[in-house]
Amino acid sequence: MATHSLERTQFGDIKNIGNIMPIEEANQMLKDWVPNERLQLHMKQVAAVMKAWAIEKENADEITYLKWELAGLLHDADWEKHPTEHCRVIIEELEKRNLDPEIIRCIASHGPRYFGVEPETKMDKMIYAFDELSGFIHAVALIRPTRYEGLETKSVVKRLKTPAFAAQVNRDDITDALSRIDFSLEEIISFIIIHQKNVV
Ligand SMILES: [Fe+2]
Ligand SMILES: [Fe+2]
Repeated sequence: MATHSLERTQFGDIKNIGNIMPIEEANQMLKDWVPNERLQLHMKQVAAVMKAWAIEKENADEITYLKWELAGLLHDADWEKHPTEHCRVIIEELEKRNLDPEIIRCIASHGPRYFGVEPETKMDKMIYAFDELSGFIHAVALIRPTRYEGLETKSVVKRLKTPAFAAQVNRDDITDALSRIDFSLEEIISFIIIHQKNVV
């Protein structure tokens, strides 16, 4: 992630709390902003995992789980067309669209080392924990003849310990993200496998 610090820590406007966009509108943004289908899939996978976590682990109501889902769906929306300004462009766009500030902040904190925004809320911390691991797990699945079928958590852990495999995935970011939550690497990996394997 070649990116610049956002140089701010306040996002959106509190008067927009509760303002979500329909998932259809977010999906249309994905089509317009992200021609690369592999990147689209990554964002859909993170969205599915975020939504499932909000429902299963946070007992979230509908507005809340939609916020988690939207943060996942849009977090890399500017990556393909504006790689050096990731994620400034999408954040400013969502501010213009008066989206809920918690969603915007969550997107801004998905890479603290790059964007200079510390994850604060549970939503912030979970997107940071899921993002790199989700992509890594997908890379592991892609090299298996049966893809996600029979993919075990322990083989993902083993690959993580192999620095040459998916070398672009920064292991330090994963360790840092996990140090901020009360769940083990194995728990997070198995949750991701279950919830992203059927996303297309
Ligand atoms: Fe990103
Ligand atoms: Fe991502």
